[in-house]
Amino acid sequence: MLTEKQNNKKRFVKTIAVASGKGGVGKTNVVANLAIAMTACDMNVMILDADLGLSNIDVLLHLAPRNNIQHVLSGEMSLRDVVIEGPHGIKILPASSGVQELTALDEFQRLKIMEEFEAYDNDVDVLLIDTAAGISENVAFFCIAAQEIVIVTSPEPTAITDAYALIKVLCTRYQEKEFHVLVNSVKSPEEGCEVFRRLSSATEKFLNISLDYLGDLPFDEAVPRAVRAQKAFIDAYPNTPPSRRIREMALKFSGQGTKVKGTLQFFIGNLLSASTHL
Ligand SMILES: Nc1ncnc2c1ncn2[C@@H]1O[C@H](COP(=O)(O)OP(=O)(O)O)[C@@H](O)[C@H]1O
Ligand SMILES: [Mg+2]
Repeated sequence: MLTEKQNNKKRFVKTIAVASGKGGVGKTNVVANLAIAMTACDMNVMILDADLGLSNIDVLLHLAPRNNIQHVLSGEMSLRDVVIEGPHGIKILPASSGVQELTALDEFQRLKIMEEFEAYDNDVDVLLIDTAAGISENVAFFCIAAQEIVIVTSPEPTAITDAYALIKVLCTRYQEKEFHVLVNSVKSPEEGCEVFRRLSSATEKFLNISLDYLGDLPFDEAVPRAVRAQKAFIDAYPNTPPSRRIREMALKFSGQGTKVKGTLQFFIGNLLSASTHL
């Protein structure tokens, strides 16, 4: 249990789920690099790797997690034994197959996991969630619990259609109305704007919601080069256009106007109660 003094110091945490309709559009790169850019804005960042199928934040950042959230759920370990440290002090919580279990916890496990997260409340300002691609219940679970949802798409028509399909499900089935859109791998800012315009005109017409344009990330050879070197591109190639754009996005999230509500524990509470709405 926390003492009253510790309680008073609790931070508010911003929770951001990064999702996409289609795989391979750059979600994991966005999460890893945005996390690093946020640390430069004096934010303490935790990444929840919730991509069950292709969890690869650890591969991207050349880390080797030995444990995952499943070990916490089974009571074998505490969260502190599972969370690993990445570049710039980023905390990474490998979820792997434990993610599936989060949706089906009994009361004892819920309390246990809430208590574990309570211990982290004072260390984390931002929780970034790298979700799986597509429209699984699992993705919905993280999106509805987070305060902000970033939808990543590439300019490919199939990626745009899948992004629309994901937004549609989150809107019609789960009443989500606010989405940020990031268009990755663009040839020009105009191409990014055009993709955003197509997506937002569809959501305005058919779903009656307007989207927020977070911005674009240019296509740049530095990205796959950094991936091959198992480094974040913002560290390996800090002066390339994608690195500059990611820093601008981090600033946008660190500025005012984004919703800050609740502690990390509050998010986990949301997350666990979200499972009852699926
Ligand atoms: N802005 C970009 N410019 C060039 N290549 C990119 C860019 N963003 C992503 N990629 C390439 O796409 C691949 C998939 O990215 P990744 O972040 O793993 O996608 P996801 O997590 O959505 O599956 C990366 O390995 C990288 O080579
Ligand atoms: Mg990924």
